[in-house]
Amino acid sequence: MASLPPLSVVVTGAAGAIGYSLMPMIASGQMFGEGRKIDLRLLEIPAALDRLQGTVMEIDDGAFNLAKLTATADVEVAFKDVDIAIFVGGFPRKAGMERKDIQINARIFVSQAKALEDFAKKTVKVLVVANPANTNCLSLMIGAPSIPRENFSCLSRLDLNRSRSQLCQKYRELHPESDVTAGEIVNAMVWGNHSSTQYPDVSHCVIQTAEGPVKARDAFDDAWLDGDFMSSVQKRGGAIIKARGASSAMSAANAACNHMRDWIVGTDECVSMGVCSDGNPYGIPEGLIYSFPVTCEDGKWKIVPGLPIDDRSKGLMLASAAELVKERDSVNEMLSAPAAAE
Ligand code: NAD
Ligand code: LMR
Repeated sequence: MASLPPLSVVVTGAAGAIGYSLMPMIASGQMFGEGRKIDLRLLEIPAALDRLQGTVMEIDDGAFNLAKLTATADVEVAFKDVDIAIFVGGFPRKAGMERKDIQINARIFVSQAKALEDFAKKTVKVLVVANPANTNCLSLMIGAPSIPRENFSCLSRLDLNRSRSQLCQKYRELHPESDVTAGEIVNAMVWGNHSSTQYPDVSHCVIQTAEGPVKARDAFDDAWLDGDFMSSVQKRGGAIIKARGASSAMSAANAACNHMRDWIVGTDECVSMGVCSDGNPYGIPEGLIYSFPVTCEDGKWKIVPGLPIDDRSKGLMLASAAELVKERDSVNEMLSAPAAAE
């Protein structure tokens, strides 16, 4: 049987902290499956090319199964006929900022949308990691209209992983004899923006214990679920910046790997992805990039339909959507502002 052609993958901001952690995940087959050769393109700004060369040397020293490795500051070289585009390039927030305050990243995305439109395959699958991830992804989707809207996504998997981990740790704290793992926390979901308005929803979540499935609402206090649990997931990024003096990198790369692998290989459980809200069954305004519970099959995601949503959940879901509408409006203003004003 003929082997598949190499998968071409571009990572922007490849010399940064997340880019560094992502490299072995991509090059070793963890992200796209072992045996699939990768044509890996690393995009950076000219000022970071020397630093990027160090990453290239380490990738070489990994002796990975790569078809090709290119380090460049030229968007045409990076995006030409690319199958997968992972947008990490951009600036992290500093202590005291919200993710939407990183204005400089909005400009990067408006200009990279054009490169995506001009050079990438029309089947390219896009994952945006750089913050504000939902709205940066929206800028790409608007600025690259010849690529189908379902091909654009942003990362909310880190928030889902954080939810699962916190639920697992609390369960073990309450049941010291239990060896339940984060992977045994199923149907946790994250709705909305990758910001402090995100809604980590446990209404449908179940813990697969050795004794059988237990609903999260039966396992834990409502006061904890609706209080400390929710706010610690919503504010975890800021807590990591405070503790590390730098934003999350290894867990972000791991989440990006989970996201892409599930999208390409498929899921056997519900996960969360930021995707286009057009036609969603939950009354979220259309034309946003919004995190929904999804399943993936044959390289396509599908929003999980038919979940019962109570009034409290609906309010939280719409509040996060309202924040995204505001972010969209400010990007639209920037897009329509004359270039001389920049
Ligand atoms: P970093 O500063 O270590 O690396 C970012 C890299 O992007 C730098 O090397 C920089 O030179 C490069 N870059 C800047 N402009 C570029 C451009 N126009 N083209 C290509 N490269 C460019 O930052 P990091 O820790 O890797 O984080 C990257 C982004 O990811 C930040 O915006 C951060 O807030 C975000 N982030 C998102 C999540 C999430 O869950 N969505 C999680 C963690 C971090
Ligand atoms: C995170 O959630 O860790 C990232 O979005 C980084 C940040 O700014 O919080």
